[in-house]
Amino acid sequence: MKKSASTEKYDLQFASEVDKGLSEHPKHLPTRFIYDDEGSRLFEEIMRLPEYYLTRAEQEILSRYSGEIASILGREKFNLIELGAGNGEKTATLIKALLKEKKQFRYVPIDISVGAIDALRQDLGRQFGSLPIEGIHSDYFEGLRWIKEHSQRRNIVLFLGSNIGNFQLDHQHLFMQKLSQCLKPGDYLLIGFDLIKDYEVIRKAYFDPAGVTARFNLNLIRRINRELGANFNMDEMAYYSAYNPYKKRNEACVYSKCRQIIYMKANNKNYVLEAFEPVNTEYSYKYSIADTERMAAEYGFGAIAHFRDSRAFFTDALWLRK
Ligand code: AVI
Repeated sequence: MKKSASTEKYDLQFASEVDKGLSEHPKHLPTRFIYDDEGSRLFEEIMRLPEYYLTRAEQEILSRYSGEIASILGREKFNLIELGAGNGEKTATLIKALLKEKKQFRYVPIDISVGAIDALRQDLGRQFGSLPIEGIHSDYFEGLRWIKEHSQRRNIVLFLGSNIGNFQLDHQHLFMQKLSQCLKPGDYLLIGFDLIKDYEVIRKAYFDPAGVTARFNLNLIRRINRELGANFNMDEMAYYSAYNPYKKRNEACVYSKCRQIIYMKANNKNYVLEAFEPVNTEYSYKYSIADTERMAAEYGFGAIAHFRDSRAFFTDALWLRK
């Protein structure tokens, strides 16, 4: 039997962020909600696309430089904390090198998806039997609180994959400020940045001909229909994306090919979506090396090293908290 509107359970946080985004001009939607099970599966597919160079570039960096990174880190016990751990493939390369150097550490993956944490625990547990793993299912900010409370040991924080690039600038600022406050002098941050490169290379990475990135972004609209009782007509919805060199970011949006009046049951409201009106779903910021060094200095870090792939498409920067 179909439930009536009053007994329906909606995620109020999700509903209020969608409401805010659809009420503003230009319209926008909260990026982090793209990642339900289907969104995470589509992101895995994106990472295998020939046009999506980021994952392979970072994997190359970690394959080549993990030994060097391990040798920079001292002898004392530490926490290896990973924010937004994902599938842990890249991290396994680093862990292997750390174990080879006989480092003593526990691995603390922090991820919003319970599935990701469980899979990691199983996968890495199988690969590295004796490694202590303490998975935390939480968002980044709660994860940062864990760091603060467990700060007796040195912390090595991993924030890979250019995940920072998906935050709006004010959120990047807030996040870096909090992260810096949670760390103590002598802690390290290994942070991934996608570097500015040929605009065309970036554009293709986010507008693949197979349409996987389109499905990934449109998954958010499907989710709004399903979970918030909205009625976007999916047959009319499309995806568009372009690199904006002035803002140093790729800008992704969805739009409707005809005017639609969207009703959302979760808050009993209507929204007018004009034909071809863009609804932003994601930004992916790109950086120069100078940008990353300015950022390190601004938040109390010293940039120790840049590890770049052979095409200099991507850098994993090693920062020391001063
Ligand atoms: C997770 N994040 C770093 C990806 C990126 O490159 O901005 C998300 C993504 N969106 C479309 N393709 C990949």
